[in-house]
Amino acid sequence: MSLCLVTGAAGFIGSHLAEALVAQGHRVVGLDCFTDYYPRPLKERNLTALRQAPGFTFVEADLRTADLGPLLDGVEVVFHQAAMAGLLKSWTNFDQYMTCNILATQRLLEASRQVGVRHFIHASTSSVYGREATGDETRPLQPASPYGLTKLAAEHLVWNYRDTFGVPVTVLRYFSVYGPRQRPDMGIHILIDAVLHGKPMTIFGDGTDTRGNTYISDAVEANLAALAHGPTGEAFNIGGGSVVSWNRVIELVEGLVGRRLERIPGPARPGDQRATQADTSKARRVLGWQPRVDIETGLSAQVEWQRA
Ligand SMILES: NC(=O)c1ccc[n+]([C@@H]2O[C@H](COP(=O)([O-])OP(=O)(O)OC[C@H]3O[C@@H](n4cnc5c(N)ncnc54)[C@H](O)[C@@H]3O)[C@@H](O)[C@H]2O)c1
Repeated sequence: MSLCLVTGAAGFIGSHLAEALVAQGHRVVGLDCFTDYYPRPLKERNLTALRQAPGFTFVEADLRTADLGPLLDGVEVVFHQAAMAGLLKSWTNFDQYMTCNILATQRLLEASRQVGVRHFIHASTSSVYGREATGDETRPLQPASPYGLTKLAAEHLVWNYRDTFGVPVTVLRYFSVYGPRQRPDMGIHILIDAVLHGKPMTIFGDGTDTRGNTYISDAVEANLAALAHGPTGEAFNIGGGSVVSWNRVIELVEGLVGRRLERIPGPARPGDQRATQADTSKARRVLGWQPRVDIETGLSAQVEWQRA
């Protein structure tokens, strides 16, 4: 059993991951600074179960400024989930993306090197590939948004620390994660909210954009698989099994809720991805990981969570 640091532990993916690690018997330090990207009470709610869990300690700290040495004392494995996520705000709020995604990652890598962590597992994104994110890890990296660009820079820092200082690393590139606790700015969250409450929703573009949506437990399992495997020094696509268009997701949510969505047509948004479909053969082969939850099951769980 390891002492783990989960950054972004109050967020969507970080909170689920911290819960899974505690459930496996690891000791977990969860760190978060509650950025204003979405309201703090939602993040506090994500932490409710963890705050009661034996083996879990929460630290409110900002990776951009905190003295990380003492926080990393004794830490064996770092799961770096903290970031400014979402690409839309990255056009207008670049400063925060640059500092939370690049500066914070460099500070954490430097502190991890100094304490000699056993494994640095870094959360990256399909956005490093750009508008078309289909295929395997050899696809060219051409981010189409400032968000993707800052996440790609963070990946490069990971490789710099691997190559220069021998920091043992693994990079997991998540493809559109959904499920209970999904961020309130994400499409599926907004869609379910609209259908549940009979509110109109703007549909950007013609709805034919496709996504290989990844259910939250599959994203968490990928981290556990990386932990069990040990450092790989490589990047892995972590994407869901079913690739569906946005129109199909709407149809499924309408079916689950039993109400039609009132659609307001809107233009495609700058930098939005056109198609994402992870080729996950490498993660299957090396990490022994594969996505297990199909879109129908996953959406149903998220609808139930949002209903509650
Ligand atoms: N959700 C997805 O679909 C998705 C897809 C691809 C990649 N990712 C990546 O997964 C990770 C988690 O995303 P999420 O959807 O859970 O986002 P989230 O916003 O719910 O969680 C991120 C957390 O990090 C914290 N944070 C940000 N900057 C910080 C800093 N400087 N110091 C301390 N804490 C800080 C925030 O307060 C937040 O609670 C991110 O790295 C993101 O880029 C997410």
